[in-house]
Amino acid sequence: MKTELIKIHERNFNTSPSLFFFSPGRVNLIGEHTDYSGGYVLPISISLGIYAAVSLREDKGIYVYSDDFRSLGVIQTKEPYRYNQSQGYMNYIEGILSVLKRDGYCIGKGLNISLLSTLPKSAGLSSSAALEVLILTLLNDLNDLKLSKKQIVTYAKEVENTYIGVSSGVMDQFIITFGQENQALLLDTETLDYNLIPFDFENYQLVLMNTNKARDLVDSAYNERFNSIEKAKQYFDKPLGKVSLPLYKANVHQFNDLLQKRVLHVVTENARTKAAYEALKVHDYDLLGRLMVESHRSLRDDFEVSCKELDYLVDKNLSYGAAGARMTGAGFGGTMVALYSNETLLNFDALKKAYKAKFDLELDIYIAQGAAGAKSIEGEF
Ligand code: GLA
Repeated sequence: MKTELIKIHERNFNTSPSLFFFSPGRVNLIGEHTDYSGGYVLPISISLGIYAAVSLREDKGIYVYSDDFRSLGVIQTKEPYRYNQSQGYMNYIEGILSVLKRDGYCIGKGLNISLLSTLPKSAGLSSSAALEVLILTLLNDLNDLKLSKKQIVTYAKEVENTYIGVSSGVMDQFIITFGQENQALLLDTETLDYNLIPFDFENYQLVLMNTNKARDLVDSAYNERFNSIEKAKQYFDKPLGKVSLPLYKANVHQFNDLLQKRVLHVVTENARTKAAYEALKVHDYDLLGRLMVESHRSLRDDFEVSCKELDYLVDKNLSYGAAGARMTGAGFGGTMVALYSNETLLNFDALKKAYKAKFDLELDIYIAQGAAGAKSIEGEF
């Protein structure tokens, strides 16, 4: 990976990079669509992610090349920063520069930045948050901005919400910044208090299956769910994410049928997420698996953010002996995660063929490995 990244950098900038950074993707084990109502999430940072190689420039320009968007070539960031769809991934970078500039941070260093990703895009594994946190981390380090990790999370989320226009919660930016290798992270998205808990990668595998389904409508569908949860919040005198099932039942008559289902998902998912953390604490991976399956059913039936490809993969993996399986991330396509103990790990060739025959889509499969949050890296990679 490093050799390839150096070559890419030299080819595009005629100079060798002197610094390297990495930002992981994330898999959410459980706690889905709960992070914009002050609830709980339990994600884990993974070794699929985005690498950056950087060389310093004599002038103050910031030039970026991404191997995922070759046709865009090398792009120079330009003021005034304004969202422009044809600029693609550069919007994230300019969004970050604009919020830092607004708050008086001096980005004095001229930089050449090359990006190389192992993280599938639009797959529900948080490639956009990985890019935001990567750029903030490298600008912070190289310009000595002294941003705390919490500030990095806040700026990354602000860019996603206001510059890109997706009303996402805080989970992705938080785990990508605060993640520790081989640890899941239980986050209270209301207080931002968190607890790390080891995930036993020696005896269990997280198998990721990317549906490769086009997700054109995911942002609008996501914002629609966000808005309906906003509506429900006014009926409670505490954050929705802290509402118990009895309290929900006492208030449910005030909601229409659809909102009842949406809120029921949030309430039950929070209980499952805390239970999953407790299960990890006592190494009960069977229970974790069952909670994942319940989570998927609730996302499918009550929150209605799954799709036939994800439902099919969940059922297939359970029939293959997975301890648990569910969609991960925003849904409407993206990735399914299955939990397997080492003894039951199988060959998925037949599943790939069957999936292709049924949906006319390729099925990409990855075995997740743990990785720490975004940081500068040295040595081989
Ligand atoms: C996306 C958002 C997150 C979260 C998940 C659903 O990944 O970025 O904030 O809401 O969807 O759990």
